[in-house]
Amino acid sequence: MENRVDLNKTVTGETIEKYEKKKRHYQSDSVASKYDDIRFTKRSHRLRNKRKLDAVQKAISTARDLGWEIKSVLDIPCGTGRMFPLFLNNKITFNGADLSGEMMKVAKKRFGQSGLMQGMVRCDAENLPFKSKSIDSVVSIRFMFHIPESVRHNILREMTRISKSCLIIDYRHCYTLKYWIKKSLNTLGIGKPPSYRFSVKDLHNELNSAGITIVKVFPTLRLFSDKWVVLCKAK
Ligand SMILES: C[S@@+](CC[C@H](N)C(=O)[O-])C[C@H]1O[C@@H](n2cnc3c(N)ncnc32)[C@H](O)[C@@H]1O
Repeated sequence: MENRVDLNKTVTGETIEKYEKKKRHYQSDSVASKYDDIRFTKRSHRLRNKRKLDAVQKAISTARDLGWEIKSVLDIPCGTGRMFPLFLNNKITFNGADLSGEMMKVAKKRFGQSGLMQGMVRCDAENLPFKSKSIDSVVSIRFMFHIPESVRHNILREMTRISKSCLIIDYRHCYTLKYWIKKSLNTLGIGKPPSYRFSVKDLHNELNSAGITIVKVFPTLRLFSDKWVVLCKAK
């Protein structure tokens, strides 16, 4: 266990206060309308996005190679529909869910006409309005690092409850040059400590405690990117 700062701060995640701020942040037309431009317009961002989509594609293909059916997906949080092209390419019917109606409005405008979209629902990931084992797979991208540890546990349990087949979730890990340089400098008294990033052991513990086992981890760019796309399954 590292650097416990205050009682409200979890060791492996954000503070509740920051999380509540993040939730409010996305519930804004101006944030939602600029999200894609800020995240995915620059060349470096487009490449990063492509690496993430490629990793999610590998997770889908691996699950299918293992004989698991992925005909329906819940994308939570779907945001502005970043993952939707992937579902369309794979002929997967999908539901989008998000706490922000504003983000989903953008997604609906872009993809609402596509035949494979079943619907969009505004909800909190801690309480998914879907029946148990009603959807093949749950996909959750660019989300977990915003969430405090205790809340992540509830969310993972909800995702597991509704999914029949597997979960595809991205996490941020500590095996990058940037992380280790920051950490080394910090031990020498230079700069701030790096933000928490998952080790293999912490990831196993987190998923295990929510009743989930890891099937395969897909790094997006070894040593330079801290993103893992994790294919996992309820025990
Ligand atoms: C960084 S965006 C990620 C969206 C999308 N998956 C992507 O990769 O672009 C984070 C999203 O999480 C949503 N969100 C935050 N807390 C949530 C919660 N508790 N339940 C559902 N959605 C939440 C926000 O509204 C926002 O749209």
